[in-house]
Amino acid sequence: MSNPELMHPTDELKKEHVSVLELLREITALTATEQLSSATEWVDSFDRACIFLQTDVARHFEKEEKALFPVLAKYVGNQTGPVAVMLQEHEQHQALLSQLCAAVQSRDWGSVRSAWNPFAQLLGLHIMKEDSVLFPMAERLMNAEERTEVHNKMEAINRSIEIPMS
Ligand SMILES: [Fe+2]
Repeated sequence: MSNPELMHPTDELKKEHVSVLELLREITALTATEQLSSATEWVDSFDRACIFLQTDVARHFEKEEKALFPVLAKYVGNQTGPVAVMLQEHEQHQALLSQLCAAVQSRDWGSVRSAWNPFAQLLGLHIMKEDSVLFPMAERLMNAEERTEVHNKMEAINRSIEIPMS
């Protein structure tokens, strides 16, 4: 994103949502298979999923929480309303993610399978709300100066060292 005047910072976040939705579809298809096993496919897929969710997706959440939401909160507040709801869902996501990846780490595939659906449902719906409600609202409300501010903060987070969160 080289020209913040032309592109909205939400474009980058929307693009990242596409990768997350792809992962959700891929893993949901895997968990829908009849056989529950510790086959290499499960180990590889879930190890890869947890790394992606704890690094790239954690950074995506950080960009929303530290760059976009504070600016949007100036218009809609952060105690109630859409930003408050999104923050609450981020917390729920973290709790479900920790549960899921702990089960992956201990190769407890029964728990992985039962942790997956609530995790994927929450994250899928959350992304849908951001794409259809929150981001269009941000695009309408934010002025050019605020867009640049959000863009710069997001760039700084992109450049920061990747620290896996669990
Ligand atoms: Fe998001």
